[in-house]
Amino acid sequence: MRKGDEMMGSQISGFYKMSIEERLKIIKEKAGLSEEDLKSLADGLPLKTADMMVENLIGELQVPLGIAAHFRVNGRDYLIPMATEEASVVAAASHAAKLALPEGFQTSSTRPVMRGQIQIVDLKDTDSASKTILASKKELIEQANRLAGSLPALGGGVIDMTVKSFQAPKKMLIVEFFIDCRDAMGANAVDMVVEGIAPEIESMVKGRALLKILSNLATERMVKAKVTYKSGSIGGPSVVAGVVDAYNFAVADPYRAATNNKGIMNGISAIALATGNDTRAVEAGAHAFASLTGKYMPLSKWWKDKNGDIVGELEMPLAVGIVGGATKTHPVAQLALKILGVKSATELAEVACALGLAQNFAALRALVTEGIQKGHMELHARNVAVMAGASGDQIETVAEMLVKEKNVKVSRAKEILLGFQ
Ligand code: MEV
Repeated sequence: MRKGDEMMGSQISGFYKMSIEERLKIIKEKAGLSEEDLKSLADGLPLKTADMMVENLIGELQVPLGIAAHFRVNGRDYLIPMATEEASVVAAASHAAKLALPEGFQTSSTRPVMRGQIQIVDLKDTDSASKTILASKKELIEQANRLAGSLPALGGGVIDMTVKSFQAPKKMLIVEFFIDCRDAMGANAVDMVVEGIAPEIESMVKGRALLKILSNLATERMVKAKVTYKSGSIGGPSVVAGVVDAYNFAVADPYRAATNNKGIMNGISAIALATGNDTRAVEAGAHAFASLTGKYMPLSKWWKDKNGDIVGELEMPLAVGIVGGATKTHPVAQLALKILGVKSATELAEVACALGLAQNFAALRALVTEGIQKGHMELHARNVAVMAGASGDQIETVAEMLVKEKNVKVSRAKEILLGFQ
């Protein structure tokens, strides 16, 4: 744990029952936000900034930003900002994180290495071209590093180069550069390197460099999270057995695996979006990795350990950054990173992985017990109670009555509230 982390604490009881102002007060204190930070959170993305980010701007689409509480990752507490339009997701993640306490999640990751690809076509002899390129590997890596901006000075940069060939249907060579992108997601850095070095390779082999682009299947940028849920704290042996059966269903059937992985990405895409990261890159990498064996598989694994508890593991590629792009230009993404308190891109990826695993467990536990509609309904009822004017303890009481009566409507909530006067 870093100095001060023990003060941070991700435990906030009854967060969901508080007003937005009360929640902000707590987050301000815990994450050390200033009044100015709160103002930028309320103001969101200035239209002028948005106009510089995309073309033909006409407005903005706002997405709710929630905080998942109770997360402990490698002994450190995190409050996780999640940008999502889907109800129940933030609550489910927080609940699953709480159930994992006191140990929480254990995570690890590789170096943040991305792969850039150069497709060489129109070659007379791909074998000899391949040998020529490989014979100059050292010089090409040195030259590529001169195109890698500040990465080498930061301890990253181009670390390897390989060549592979395809006959599909024309012969082609693919030259791949492996680049440690440090705290950046790396798309710009990688594209700069492959575009910059391609002419040199073209002239070496008398071929034509067609595509020069990074790969979103970031198998060199892996992250892993593990968690153990005590049988007694999650509903007993039937829940443990149910989660294992649910996992086996996903292993057997890609139709289930896709939904299982969607549940994982409910968490991972939400933290990626909140921190200004490229959610499509993250999603593409995740789903391509899930099908790398030739069969689409669940990204997570669940099994029962010798104590009868359930153990979960999630391992996947995760290319996220904390510098560059929208992570820097979007003021709310900057605040999300401040609230998270992560100091590196790998730390962000590890927290995201823990969040994905928690999200997966929450969904599986709900599915093997009461189903997911009940939780949705309870949350919806709370929102309806607030919309009808309930506050404080009234929210829970009114929500419970609405669910019991199976009549979750604002008009009914108003009637109940009138009865309290
Ligand atoms: C819904 O957004 C996600 C789930 O469908 C995930 C799953 O089925 O594992 C509940």
